[in-house]
Amino acid sequence: MRPFGIMNPAVARKIRPARRIAGTISLPGDKSISHRYAMLAALAEGSSVFTNYSTGADCASTLACLRGLGVECSHRGTTVRIRGMGAAGLQAPQVPLDAGNSGTTIRLLSGILAGQPFVSAIRGDESLSNRPMQRIITPLRSMGASVDARDGQFPPLTIRGGRLHPIRYELPVASAQVKSCVLLAGLSAPGATQVLELLETRNHTEIALRRFGAKVHVDEREITVRGPSRLEACDLRIPSDLSSAVFFLAAALLLPGSDLRIEGVGLNPTRTAVLDVLRKMGAAVRIETQSDPGGEPVGSISVRGAGPLAGGEISGAATAGVIDEIPMLAVLGAVSESGLRIRDAGELRVKETDRIATVTSNLRRMGASIVEYETGMDIEGGCRLKGAELDSCGDHRIAMAFAVAGLAAEGESGLSGAEAASVSFPEFYDVLSTVARD
Ligand code: S3P
Repeated sequence: MRPFGIMNPAVARKIRPARRIAGTISLPGDKSISHRYAMLAALAEGSSVFTNYSTGADCASTLACLRGLGVECSHRGTTVRIRGMGAAGLQAPQVPLDAGNSGTTIRLLSGILAGQPFVSAIRGDESLSNRPMQRIITPLRSMGASVDARDGQFPPLTIRGGRLHPIRYELPVASAQVKSCVLLAGLSAPGATQVLELLETRNHTEIALRRFGAKVHVDEREITVRGPSRLEACDLRIPSDLSSAVFFLAAALLLPGSDLRIEGVGLNPTRTAVLDVLRKMGAAVRIETQSDPGGEPVGSISVRGAGPLAGGEISGAATAGVIDEIPMLAVLGAVSESGLRIRDAGELRVKETDRIATVTSNLRRMGASIVEYETGMDIEGGCRLKGAELDSCGDHRIAMAFAVAGLAAEGESGLSGAEAASVSFPEFYDVLSTVARD
């Protein structure tokens, strides 16, 4: 595992324009799936081995938290072995668990901690310490856990778990993290815990629960898990992360004459809405689904950069489906013919940074015109991006989106906080330099 800081954070990384993107690449494992497999493996009977585990700091935070609960996790390259402790085997942590920058770690693990007969504290870095936790505190309390939070809603959280009872919970926000938190708590609540989601969110937890042998049933938007569930260890390969792939697809689309193929990518339909958006913008994206190991479809994506993209609108249910990709789509929107309207995206304000603000300020520095709203943005099209002093503000997706924007700009850019990419993708700049041609 590479260390978090791959460069001196005080020095802005230089991003030089590229002419085109070309090559065939494969990418590290999906972050969402890595977190879930690791957590379920910890609760299972027997040892699980995962190949192509995410190399990001976030998924390392999940392993560190599991070690804090007494779970043996060994990490060799991208292969992770986890010795399951069984449903009742986790141990009370001696010190607060540290979720780092990872919202998925704190929100999902809190569901597991709520079912444990001990007290645990879980904290995070400065960004995570300012992200809303009320959304998980409310359902966990109604299942019978005691949860204390700073100012009633922020990490650190102190969770006194124990005897939970099942609930039926309608998600007030479209959030896979909240859905998963409740389902994981439901593993230790005797009876049927049900989550009703009005808008579809990524379903990796449902798939993983089934894979590990939990009693789970999905009926359209209603997911039921029956506790107590006995989980069985399994060995699985984790598909490459589609959300990471999108930065490379976008780079190819921004640079005419590009020709890029990405192999072994996770193509779970609850994640592929971004490919539909790209196609609607006129992108030539070709997908070949090759296999479906353990219910997670995997395949390759090919893209050619063929000239100007049309603009479009992302709103309503569609926004939730591409929420992680909006920073990158916003950059494409600025160079598109008619611009991009983004609506119903208030969730962007509570991600690793306020992404409406961090996208807007960076794009403006590159010469784009944007109107910022509380829950969206109007990004004017037709912009020729100019090299600029950019800032990730410590947000991995902002770092990667604007590194790509810099490739397609006129003139050199400086990217402060470029090293934040390590949160999800430490090899990002190395891989980018293997496909960027000048
Ligand atoms: C994730 C769910 C999404 C996403 C995040 C990862 C997950 O968050 O933005 O990057 O792994 O469940 P929300 O569920 O809060 O929307």
